[in-house]
Amino acid sequence: MSSSRPGSYTRTAIRLHWLLALGLSATLALGFYMSDLPFSPAKLQYYSWHKWAGITLLLLAVFRLGWRLTHPAPAAPAGMPAWQHAASEWTHRLLYLLMLAIPLSGWLMSSAKGVPTVYFGVLPLPDLLERNVELGKQLGQLHGALNFGLLGLVALHAAAALKHYVIDRDEVLGRMLPFLNKA
Ligand code: HEM
Repeated sequence: MSSSRPGSYTRTAIRLHWLLALGLSATLALGFYMSDLPFSPAKLQYYSWHKWAGITLLLLAVFRLGWRLTHPAPAAPAGMPAWQHAASEWTHRLLYLLMLAIPLSGWLMSSAKGVPTVYFGVLPLPDLLERNVELGKQLGQLHGALNFGLLGLVALHAAAALKHYVIDRDEVLGRMLPFLNKA
């Protein structure tokens, strides 16, 4: 841990955190909702919205990862056990991985199923794979499983943030919700 690390996140990092939290929650909920619907024009419309939102989140996640690599996170609070520090670093790494892997698996699945993705209905994106319906089904299962992984990790991440606020009473949650540290 270097003492040259800043004591707080940049405003851009905080905005990206909450924008992605909101966008991922909405896209995940739409994904589970739409895939259980019977075939209809509305279902096709939801699929398009889901794909456009997913590609936008992929772009935001790439930008966020770049920002994170060039703007280090604040240091862990003094006295935090080493295992908790390691658990938090690994949770964050896995969250970044899932923010990239989930939309990419969706794009790969759509390509393999032979359904092109046309961003906002105007920009046709390249197919990442040749048409292969069997592989498309497997990628669909992977896409769903990665989303369950995301739900589990987010639950762990939020529980840890609440523990810092309620039990440890340190500044960690307030770094992402600055009004808490002002109170
Ligand atoms: C970060 C962004 C994304 C999230 C959080 C997300 C989440 C989900 C979820 C939760 C499901 C339901 C899975 C299930 O029922 O097991 C789903 C289905 C689906 N997603 Fe995504 N997704 C994202 C990005 C994308 C992208 C970029 C594409 C394509 C370009 C895509 C294409 C699809 C399709 C086609 C389905 C329906 C699969 C089926 O009906 O078999 N998703 N998504």
